[in-house]
Amino acid sequence: MIHPTLVTQVLTIRFGGHVAVNKVSCDFRPGALTVIVGPNGAGKTTDFNLISGQLPASEGRVVKDGIDLTGRSRSARAHHGIGRAFQLTNLFPALSALENTRLAVQAQSGHSRRFWGRAKRLTG
Ligand SMILES: Nc1ncnc2c1ncn2[C@@H]1O[C@H](COP(=O)(O)OP(=O)(O)OP(=O)(O)O)[C@@H](O)[C@H]1O
Ligand SMILES: [Mg+2]
Repeated sequence: MIHPTLVTQVLTIRFGGHVAVNKVSCDFRPGALTVIVGPNGAGKTTDFNLISGQLPASEGRVVKDGIDLTGRSRSARAHHGIGRAFQLTNLFPALSALENTRLAVQAQSGHSRRFWGRAKRLTG
C-alpha cells in the first residue's frame, strides 16, 4: 500500500458566515494524479490556497510526510515540497528559460545570497 504524502484533515475556512471550504479531508498519493473537481464557486481555489498557505485555515490540518504544516508560512511549506503554480506565470522575460529555472534552483537551494561563484555550477 502506498501511503499518502499529503493529507488534509477536515480543512475548513469561513469568511464571516460563509463556509467556503467545509471539512475537506483528502489524501494525495505519490505518483498519482489527483484532481479536485467542482462547479464554479465550489471552493477549489480556496482549498489550494489553504494547502499552500495563501490563506489561514479556520479549522483542520495540512500534513506533509507526517509533518503538520498547518499555520506554517508559504516558504516553509515550499521547503517541504508544496508548490503552487498559477494560471498567470511570473517569469523574467529578459532571461532565458535556463536562467529562469536557475533562479528557482538558487532560491530552493539557499544559494540566492551567494554573490560570488559560478552560476553554471547550479545547472550541472
Ligand atoms: N476572500 C474571500 N472572501 C469571501 N468569500 C470568498 C473569498 N474567497 C473565496 N470566497 C468565496 O468562496 C467560495 C469558493 O470560491 P473559490 O474561488 O474557491 O471557488 P472555485 O471552486 O475555485 O470556483 P471557480 O471554478 O469559479 O474557479 C465562493 O463562494 C467565493 O465567493
Ligand atoms: Mg477557482
